[in-house]
Amino acid sequence: MLETIERYSQEVHSAQFTTKEEVEAFRIQYLGNKGILKDLYAAFKNVGIEEKKNVGLALNEFKKQIEEKISSLNFQDNRSSKAILDDFTKPSSSESSGSLHPISIITYEIIDIFERIGFSVSEGPEVEDDWHNFSALNFPEDHPARDMQDTFFLSLGQSNYSLRTHTSSVQVRVMEEHSPPIRTISPGRVYRNEAISARAHCFFHQLEGLYIDKDVTFADLKQTLDYFAKSLFGKEVKLRLRPSYFPFTEPSAEVDVSCTLCAQKGCSVCKYTGWLEIMGCGMVDPNVLSSCGIDPNTYTGFAFGMGIERITQLKYRVNDLRLYSENDVRFLQQFKS
Ligand code: DAH
Repeated sequence: MLETIERYSQEVHSAQFTTKEEVEAFRIQYLGNKGILKDLYAAFKNVGIEEKKNVGLALNEFKKQIEEKISSLNFQDNRSSKAILDDFTKPSSSESSGSLHPISIITYEIIDIFERIGFSVSEGPEVEDDWHNFSALNFPEDHPARDMQDTFFLSLGQSNYSLRTHTSSVQVRVMEEHSPPIRTISPGRVYRNEAISARAHCFFHQLEGLYIDKDVTFADLKQTLDYFAKSLFGKEVKLRLRPSYFPFTEPSAEVDVSCTLCAQKGCSVCKYTGWLEIMGCGMVDPNVLSSCGIDPNTYTGFAFGMGIERITQLKYRVNDLRLYSENDVRFLQQFKS
């Protein structure tokens, strides 16, 4: 019997496997209910008393050898051993795919709409100097928007830097670097020193628009925004402009679209007014044109700026701003297309 065990032991030692299935067959062959080990234990009962001790020890060793062989193969399996790599028919492991963030989806959609009517995309820095964020945009020295409560100021040497509070700063950079005609949109992240809640955040996203040329009028602005709103929200949407004030535009207006959620019947999103505010706009103030080296006697232009979270909220009915930056995959997965 010792010889039989030795023979099997040699076989186990030299056994080679290329697939998981072969390992499993090996396990059944030796350790299964009707396996070799079972037969050997059955035969062990008939071994004479003087041989029993040695055969028993050899049997136990043999069992250990088989178990170790199998577990060493499993170990290799986890680490993608050659044996497993060689199995080209093995199904690939499924990786869960990511998806675009809703803010990105809407940003791309808006870019697409404006690119169709000749606007190009421009970008600027998030760390901005006082000139580009405020002064060139005609903000008076004591304007409340410069206040510590709104702006994250940075102490970087002598100069006055802050995190940009709006993407209007990019208008200034584009006008300084290019001469008209200018037709550009500038999407990007902006920062405000606000307490974080469902309705306010210390960072969010805006998209700025700028059109400078000879004879640009308020009618061009209105037509452009009408085209934009209808492309984004649907043909049936109506636009309303309310007079407003921004330091960098004159005249200025706030833009509302008819509430598409309730068809203007009144709902909690439009606060029962039937209208939703989506952006600010106006004719670029002549002071801003001069500050940026463009002659206001030759050129006119319009500008507009919208909050991307706000638009996304209207498109997807997300009512808590914090969801956008929590990275909760349960939220993000809903935007898989
Ligand atoms: N920069 C403004 C803000 O952050 C938005 C804005 C309003 C931009 C009117 C414009 C504009 O270009 O004309 O609230």
